Amino acid sequence: LVAGVDSSTQSCKVVIVDADTGAVVREGRAAHPDGTEVDPAAWWRALQEAIAAAGGLDDVAAWSIGGQQHGMVALDAEGRVIRDALLWNDTRSAGAAEALIDQFGVESLAQRTGLVPVASFTITKLRWLRDAEPDNAARVAAVALPHDWLMWRLRGFGPVGESAGGPVLEELVTDRSDASGTGYWSPDAWAPGLDGYDRELFIAALGHDAVLPRVLGPAEWVVDGAERRVAPGAGDNAGAALGVGAGTGDVVVSIGTSGTVFAVSAERTVDPSGTVAGFADADGGFLPIVVTLNAARVLDAIARLLGVDHTALSDLALAAHPGAGGLTLLPYFEGERTPNLPDATASLTGMTLASTTRENLARAAVEGMLSGLGAGLDALRELGVPLERALLIGGAAQSAAVREIAPAVLGLPVEVPAPGEYVALGAARQAARIAGA
Ligand code: XUL
Repeated sequence: LVAGVDSSTQSCKVVIVDADTGAVVREGRAAHPDGTEVDPAAWWRALQEAIAAAGGLDDVAAWSIGGQQHGMVALDAEGRVIRDALLWNDTRSAGAAEALIDQFGVESLAQRTGLVPVASFTITKLRWLRDAEPDNAARVAAVALPHDWLMWRLRGFGPVGESAGGPVLEELVTDRSDASGTGYWSPDAWAPGLDGYDRELFIAALGHDAVLPRVLGPAEWVVDGAERRVAPGAGDNAGAALGVGAGTGDVVVSIGTSGTVFAVSAERTVDPSGTVAGFADADGGFLPIVVTLNAARVLDAIARLLGVDHTALSDLALAAHPGAGGLTLLPYFEGERTPNLPDATASLTGMTLASTTRENLARAAVEGMLSGLGAGLDALRELGVPLERALLIGGAAQSAAVREIAPAVLGLPVEVPAPGEYVALGAARQAARIAGA
């Protein structure tokens, strides 16, 4: 048996999987506070609860953790968390992103790290900390990401008095996929014996150097206190790619509260426009990705406005003709990350007396949401990423209207895998790999 974990923005899910057959034999989950600024102790409690609900790890040969990307977990020299973690959806560091771009230029940043800083990425959060909370910044002895820190805790390390292993910061490990979302890691500089961090950028952000997690390759492992093997873990998008079994030519379109569009690619991508982030994947390759803030929440807003549930919204949308009678919903309800328009709002255009029907409004919502994701696919195509099939996952993939309208808007055949905990399953697949199964 192996265990895979998904520590997401809202909750923690654990799957215990038969490594030979891939069957899920037990699972557990626990909620933790969400928001944009969270005490990592809440993730740790949820992880322990979810493991207990899944029947524990005693009979497990190996485990791995996938998690929300980019969150800044700042540790002091004694392994204590210095302040609540700032998460991927926290936008207070938008000004810090601008400052880094002014200092280094988009071309250089994109070439060095694959990313053009936006408020989501860890590097901007460190710069914000240095400027806004200099006393806290000065105490930082190590910086980890959510999955790195949870693996460290579950392996037995932690602050003095709270862990058997103690605060051994050098025992922090991460993987290529999560490191690639920091903004201070360079896939070209990563090789056996080289961690790939761009220390000049890291120091420019935080103001001084600190311990960073060792970046494990996909076939490497460490051990926990019970000598179980621990796989490198992954950022949630790379974990989902692994869990859903995406291969070359597949583009995964994940429609949750936010939307992510990512493809497995053998080649590194560099996009100085910042539309496509050049992440690494959990398999030794790359995962060019476009992240939008407005996905399922677009359907939520219009369903609420029309006073219907999601099934009725889908029925209404399918009762209208393609193009929604000329109604166009531009879906930037709470700003947008891609394109980078943090202050944008949504708008509805093309309203005539004839076109303004419930059916057309429902259809415009589905078409507008899918077009936002479709723009992401176009950006991947422009970088030469091969796209042959879209795999639709996430809550809104269950909408009949979304499934039916998606092929025309995305310009690809669409498949909808059965709903599943793909991030946790991807982590379980990593664990199975290093367990030799
Ligand atoms: C990716 C991103 C989100 C988080 C959500 O860049 O910000 O997908 O990983 O968990």
